[in-house]
Amino acid sequence: MAQLFSRRATTVFRASLVLGLVAVAGAAGLGYVSSRSDSTWNVGKPAPQPIPFRHDLHSGTLKIDCRFCHVSVEKAADAGMPSAQTCMTCHSQVWAGASLLEPLRSSLALDQPVTWTSVHRLPAYAFFHHGAHVSKGVACETCHGRVDQMAETVKTQTLSMGWCLDCHRDPVPHLRPQEAVFTMDWKPHDRDMPEDVRAFYRAASQRLTSCNTCHR
Ligand code: HEC
Ligand code: HEC
Ligand code: HEC
Ligand code: HEC
Ligand code: HEC
Repeated sequence: MAQLFSRRATTVFRASLVLGLVAVAGAAGLGYVSSRSDSTWNVGKPAPQPIPFRHDLHSGTLKIDCRFCHVSVEKAADAGMPSAQTCMTCHSQVWAGASLLEPLRSSLALDQPVTWTSVHRLPAYAFFHHGAHVSKGVACETCHGRVDQMAETVKTQTLSMGWCLDCHRDPVPHLRPQEAVFTMDWKPHDRDMPEDVRAFYRAASQRLTSCNTCHR
């Protein structure tokens, strides 16, 4: 039988097959890299806020306790957000008439909460609980970074599933003594966790990495 395709056509076909495969692999690789990169997770990107609230001033300089504004962080799933009243404990005196603080006054007048933009929201199918972490010695700084130095609040961690699991596989090196969970710039001082804590997490690792712990 006569040759169906010329030798040249066969070469071109083979070459384009190879190139095509390379392109697909490249695109997949790029997709993988970008899906894992910080920018995809909005790390370091501030969100527009109704009031230019500054943690560096209120937590850093004025040293107001995190719990003054995020009242349920030790017990509940949600950390809780401050009401306009909470801000007004000071701002009915300090900067009382400032136009910057107008959203506080209208919040009180209309009896509507201030609409802060979240920078940390997980998808609805993932379950998180602040109390479970904070009460076991996982610090704000570990997951949220140096909030006390932020003029604008940003994410410092991806909050991806891989990030959660990295810790859940072996939380012990990330734990602090209970009195240090609100501390910023904390140094471990070579204090080892007691053996009973280590044993507890060796036993708990199965539970902490099972799907229905975070997807219920
Ligand atoms: C414990 C007191 C206190 C509380 C509570 C408080 N503030 Fe302040 N705030 C201050 C002080 C003090 C200043 C600094 C005033 C100055 O430097 O002139 C300030 C400054 C500000 C400024 C101006 C920042 C700038 O750019 O200089 C804004 C905006 C502000 N606060 C918003 C808020 C909001 C919103 C809340 C509630 C979530 C709040 N504050 C709660 C004491 C407080
Ligand atoms: C005076 C009140 C106040 C204090 C004290 C305070 N915060 Fe906040 N926090 C706010 C307000 C208001 C917002 C919303 C605006 C913003 O994101 O900056 C916020 C937002 C946040 C967010 C982002 C929330 C989201 O929806 O993504 C984190 C994380 C946070 N605070 C952590 C802390 C930590 C950690 C401390 C203690 C070091 C602290 N805050 C102390 C008022 C406060
Ligand atoms: C183990 C990691 C971790 C620790 C520790 C942690 N957070 Fe969070 N935080 C998160 C995650 C994840 C979210 C997003 C939760 C969601 O969308 O369900 C979040 C959200 C928030 C929010 C937004 C409101 C909310 O609850 O959704 C605030 C405010 C906040 N954290 C403050 C704090 C403070 C203050 C501390 C320390 C006492 C703290 N967090 C400790 C991981 C952590
Ligand atoms: C730095 C370490 C660390 C990170 C990061 C972390 N966790 Fe945890 N998580 C813990 C520890 C420690 C516990 C407490 C385990 C215990 O003692 O039962 C816990 C407990 C939990 C529990 C309660 C489990 C139960 O059975 O009671 C849930 C749900 C959870 N984590 C979800 C998450 C999610 C979702 C993320 C990521 C957004 C996350 N965690 C990130 C350390 C971490
Ligand atoms: C420690 C908490 C935790 C555990 C355990 C966990 N996940 Fe997740 N998972 C998350 C969080 C947080 C997200 C949302 C962030 C993201 O997409 O990475 C997520 C996202 C997902 C997604 C959506 C991913 C995407 O790219 O859209 C799937 C599917 C999923 N998880 C399946 C699983 C399965 C299957 C298991 C058990 C083998 C599991 N998860 C265990 C926390 C967890």
